[in-house]
Amino acid sequence: MSALKENVRRHWEADPCGAKLAEAEWGTEAFFAEVERTRDELEPFIPAFAAFDRWRGKRVLEVGVGLGTDFVRFVRAGAVATGVDLTEASVGLVRQRLALEGLSAELRPADAEALPFPDGSFDLVYSWGVLDHTPETQRAIDEVRRLVAPGGEARIMLYSRRSWVALGVWGRYGLLRGRPWATPTELLARHMESPGTKAYTQTELERLCAGFSEVSYRRFVTPYDRRVAGPLAGLADRFGWFVGITARP
Ligand SMILES: C[S@@+](CC[C@H](N)C(=O)[O-])C[C@H]1O[C@@H](n2cnc3c(N)ncnc32)[C@H](O)[C@@H]1O
Repeated sequence: MSALKENVRRHWEADPCGAKLAEAEWGTEAFFAEVERTRDELEPFIPAFAAFDRWRGKRVLEVGVGLGTDFVRFVRAGAVATGVDLTEASVGLVRQRLALEGLSAELRPADAEALPFPDGSFDLVYSWGVLDHTPETQRAIDEVRRLVAPGGEARIMLYSRRSWVALGVWGRYGLLRGRPWATPTELLARHMESPGTKAYTQTELERLCAGFSEVSYRRFVTPYDRRVAGPLAGLADRFGWFVGITARP
C-alpha cells in the first residue's frame, strides 16, 4: 500500500466517517440511530439518488461503507448486498449494525482500487463520497466500471471543485492565512477529511467517467455549502459540493 493510502486508511480507522460526531457509545443501537438521524438531516437527497427500494433481489456492491447508513438501507430493502471499506473499523461497526437489526450481508475490508470480485458481478455499484479519498481515483472508477454487469449501473458521488465548499476552504486556509495564491486543490488535499482528498471540475469528471457509455451528473447543494454562502447557495445548484453521477457501461 502506498504511503498516502496508508495515511488515508489511518485517518478513517481513527475516525470512521463522522463517528466522533455522535455522542452515544460507538457500536450501540443509540449510536447508529444518532448517525442515521444526522445523515438524514444533513444529506436528505441520498434516498432519491440511491433509490434503495429499487434494488430488491439485485446484486449491489457498496464501495466505502463508512458507518453503513446507506448499506443497511440496501439490505433492509432486500438487495443482495456486499459492502467493502478500506478500514477494519468500518467493516466491524457495520457488521455490528447489521447484527443489531438481525440482518445479514457480506462485508469485508477491500481497496476500491483493486476490488476482489469478477467482472460484471453487480447490478449496482454504489459509492458515496469515497473515491475522491483514494489516491488513484481513476483506477477506482475503472474498477467500478469493470464490476457493473451488462444492463446494470453505477451511482457514485464525488466532490465538486467549483463549489461553495471549495471556495470556503480557500478563504479559510488560503486567504485568511495570508496565502491567497494557494489553490483549492492543494488546500482540499491538506484540510478536507483524509489526506489527499480531491474535488473535480466537470471536465475532469467527464474524463474520469469516459469509460461509461451513458453518464448523467447532478449537483447537490449541501449544508456545508450553506455554511459558506448562506441563502445564496440555494440559488445555484451548480455550485453544490456533491456531484451525484449515474453511469451505465
Ligand atoms: C467520507 S467517508 C464516506 C463513507 C460512506 N460512504 C458515507 O457516505 O458515510 C470515506 C470512506 O471511504 C473509505 N475509503 C477511502 N479510501 C478507500 C479505498 N481505497 N477503498 C475502500 N474504501 C476507502 C474510508 O475508509 C471511509 O469509510
